[in-house]
Amino acid sequence: MTRIAIIPGDGIGPEVMESVYPVLEWVRKQGRDAEWVSFPYGADHFLRTGEALSDAHFQELRDSFDTVLFGAVGDPRVPDGRHAEALLLRLRQELELHVNYRPCFPFLDGHVPLKGVRASEIHIEVFRENTEGPYCLKGHTEPDRAVDEAVHSSKAVRILLKAAFEHAKQKECPLTVAHKANVMKHGHGLWMRVFNELRAEFPEVKASGMHADALLCALVQDPKRFAVIAADNFIGDLVSDLLAGFQGGMGVAPSASWAPHRPHRCAALFEPVHGSAPDIAGKGIANPIGMLLSTALFFQREGWSKEAEAVQGAVAAVLTRGLATPDLGGTSTCREMQQAIQKEIKTC
Ligand code: NAD
Ligand code: IPM
Ligand code: MN
Repeated sequence: MTRIAIIPGDGIGPEVMESVYPVLEWVRKQGRDAEWVSFPYGADHFLRTGEALSDAHFQELRDSFDTVLFGAVGDPRVPDGRHAEALLLRLRQELELHVNYRPCFPFLDGHVPLKGVRASEIHIEVFRENTEGPYCLKGHTEPDRAVDEAVHSSKAVRILLKAAFEHAKQKECPLTVAHKANVMKHGHGLWMRVFNELRAEFPEVKASGMHADALLCALVQDPKRFAVIAADNFIGDLVSDLLAGFQGGMGVAPSASWAPHRPHRCAALFEPVHGSAPDIAGKGIANPIGMLLSTALFFQREGWSKEAEAVQGAVAAVLTRGLATPDLGGTSTCREMQQAIQKEIKTC
């Protein structure tokens, strides 16, 4: 039995999560043994109870669920985002989800904003370290200066880079590590040391390092040259949003996080790359595709390949027919997109 914890969260999180329930029902009808439980965490719950994620629920998630499907978190009523830290960042860090996988496979040529580049020419997969760097949230503010620390450990960097090397080896494609070791001599110096050790362990992988600033320029000018990109938490966040732009926007990009070194139960989390989008929340026009493709990544990881391909194929088919939410230039609502995709899934 696969036990799924669902945390819809804030803003458009619950709206896009609505699209997942019918897919899970369908998966169960395909004979997959799954059950799911929703948790109410998010700004409403936090403002009402002062609780971002109870320790009891954290332990339950960790010990008796296999995975978390997560919508989004962030609410203008909690401007310092402390409930997001105590919920999402806690899950990523305390479940040791060092690998955050963010693929960029655009569906339609019209979604790619780069001159002369076709959707089928872009196959880029980001491996972002998901727990460290400035996300250690250590620092302080003085009257006229402020300090944010960035912590990098060889354990986390090795786990992330090894996953990226293994993937590049399996796909027989190049790996580029984005860094700023020219400035961040300590933290990214450590990245480069671990990178060089792994290069020796994976001689078959064509691997290189690249300054992250130059990499961003090259990505826009010649995305075909990149396949697997590995980066720390901060650079990986920026690169993955740029790549969301190659896919039509934030509403489309999926992500999966996992802990390759942890044999325990709950060692994976699936969430779209986008946030809670307060500017469109409540209007019913959020794009559910990022959430649905994240759910497909969960199916893939579970070994449910047929179901993963059905979801991905249904999204492609519906977009190809011209249906789209406003962020992709269409007029469909979130619910209309979900229903069209769901109908297509059933015929796959
Ligand atoms: P955002 O991703 O929420 O929104 C950026 C832009 O993309 C907005 O114009 C929004 O309308 C659009 N957008 C995002 N998702 C969309 C979707 N599914 N369909 C259509 N349009 C979509 O980023 P932001 O505005 O920088 O952040 C808003 C809040 O979300 C903040 O509190 C931030 O901290 C949080 N956030 C959370 C996550 C997460 O939960 N993983 C990720 C990013 C941002
Ligand atoms: C993401 C988001 C988060 C991050 C925020 C909400 C902390 O931008 O999931 O990409 O920076 O990791
Ligand atoms: Mn981000």
